[in-house]
Amino acid sequence: MALWGAGKVGVLRLGMVAFVAVVLGITAALPPAATLPGAAAARPAAEQRAATIMIAVGGAASGFSPRTVSLERGGTLTVVNNDNVAHSVTSDAVGTQGDPLFDLVIPAHATRSLTLPSDLGAGRYPFYCTFHPNMRGTLAVTGDPGDVPKPPEFEQALRIPEVLTGRNITIPMRQADVRVMPHGPKTRMWTYGGSFPGPTIKRPAGAMTKVTFVNDLPKRAGSLTVHQHGGHHSSADDGQPTRFLIGHGGRRTYTYPLTDDGEPTPASFRFYHDHKMDRTARNNWRGLQGMFLVTDQREQRLGLPSGRYDVPLHVADRSFTAGNQLTDPFPSAVMHEWMTGPQAPPDDATVGRRILVNGQFAPYLRVEPGRYRLRLLNASLFSSYDFALSNGRPLVQVGTGSGLLPRPVVRQDVLLGPAQRADVIVDFRGQQGKDVVLNTIPRTDAGQGTGSRSAGLMQFRVRGTSNQKAKVPDRLTRIAPLDVPDEVAMTWTFDLTEDGHGSYWSVNGEMFDPSRVDHRVALGSVERWRLRNTSDMTHYVHLHEEQWQTVSRNGEKPPPWEHGYEDTWRLDPGETVDVAARFTDYAGLFMVHCHMLDHEDHGMMAQFEVVDPRG
Ligand code: C2O
Ligand code: CU
Repeated sequence: MALWGAGKVGVLRLGMVAFVAVVLGITAALPPAATLPGAAAARPAAEQRAATIMIAVGGAASGFSPRTVSLERGGTLTVVNNDNVAHSVTSDAVGTQGDPLFDLVIPAHATRSLTLPSDLGAGRYPFYCTFHPNMRGTLAVTGDPGDVPKPPEFEQALRIPEVLTGRNITIPMRQADVRVMPHGPKTRMWTYGGSFPGPTIKRPAGAMTKVTFVNDLPKRAGSLTVHQHGGHHSSADDGQPTRFLIGHGGRRTYTYPLTDDGEPTPASFRFYHDHKMDRTARNNWRGLQGMFLVTDQREQRLGLPSGRYDVPLHVADRSFTAGNQLTDPFPSAVMHEWMTGPQAPPDDATVGRRILVNGQFAPYLRVEPGRYRLRLLNASLFSSYDFALSNGRPLVQVGTGSGLLPRPVVRQDVLLGPAQRADVIVDFRGQQGKDVVLNTIPRTDAGQGTGSRSAGLMQFRVRGTSNQKAKVPDRLTRIAPLDVPDEVAMTWTFDLTEDGHGSYWSVNGEMFDPSRVDHRVALGSVERWRLRNTSDMTHYVHLHEEQWQTVSRNGEKPPPWEHGYEDTWRLDPGETVDVAARFTDYAGLFMVHCHMLDHEDHGMMAQFEVVDPRG
């Protein structure tokens, strides 16, 4: 990012800074949108009709400056963006429909103003940048308390997608109207099997599985391709971006043996989604996503919560029109036209204003006072969530998306970026009568990354009694030892590249080219790869096909929740992660890419070819 020029805006008066700081000290523990006691009395005159925030780059003052700003009810907030990327000023607090109380996008080197909605009463409103949620600030609205906009209520019972368990499964891809919001019209979506998310496929490890997808979507959806994320299967069954496509009216059967080197693959929490070249972001946004569970008997014998106590949760953000229809935020996919213009990289972040769980806004689930296994999937295009419970109880992580961890890890919060999954146990024992909210909170670790959203996602209503016997043993699985070479066979560097035509996301300096093979590896070998992020923002890097192990993170032993198999890693700016895998069973082409889907569509993808040395 470029350094910004001379600071010249300063409508906010120093006296007000001191005033706000004192008030914030008192009210820090209040929830967002709480009223500000005494604010009206302390209010000076008209200066607060307008206030300005600058977005500063670099140094200690980088971010919003000032970080707290005071404004009278109905006043005008101006934001000067001195950075060369877009930012937003978006309230944490949302209205009944889930949209932020205020939300202002400021393109690079631009100034934008916003008149506060007149119903925004006096109070303290934390805000953040939706593209860089680690940038945070607070707006103190003074004046009449007014009616503080009501936060959403948890009105809809959580839907559990239909579970398909057969050996031969057929899923039509079709347009359907889905109940997303509790009130008003349904939302027209592109779906797997008529629901969003699509049906959950649940199959035993080692059991041959064939899934046929039929393209009954409107013609403008174009050709499609379905990737089983976290799986191990032939290149032709991998859902490649440009090959083996499913044309309008066509169908394709994907064969998933659910084995690896003759052994059943680990029990895992995968998902399936569209992967079409240039259109992955749009197709996923419109609804082409579903969950995929692989089970095995060894896991079942552990005694973890099961049956109705095992709840898969697909979490994803989307934006809607007033009529509850999905917005269409995607620039033209005409050959590289996206490289210039307001949404060119790095401003190609698709952030949804409402966060949905299993395709529903603010659902609730009635639970017993027992232990529950929650399978958390972040199916968003860009946003990260740091999951935490409102009652302060921990999430005991027992698995990644790719399998169980060797031992459970007790965590207060679990940060997941796009395509990352966590298998966690939560304990509602002793919580009878309580309502517990699953929140996403601002990222709590010291990482220098992009940050996470802040919102209430769903509610658990703990009622009744339970005689459940579930437990969490302290040994869960054994990860097969891997003879990891000292030598790094391939380094994949993720960055932003600019050339004479515009900007694109790159891997090793290049834009994805389906006709180029970026690395070749011999079938049967073990390789150590290095993933490096040299850009200014966090990326979530996904490797297809193998059972990857995390060797090191920034040269150190990875944290305990990265001691299992993994397929998608967070790479904060400047980070380096070493991974290793054995390349088994299938020769052919497979993908490496960022799972922020706009980044993937805008160049940040590469491919490796597994080559059979015996020809
Ligand atoms: Cu989940 Cu190549 O993607
Ligand atoms: Cu990325």
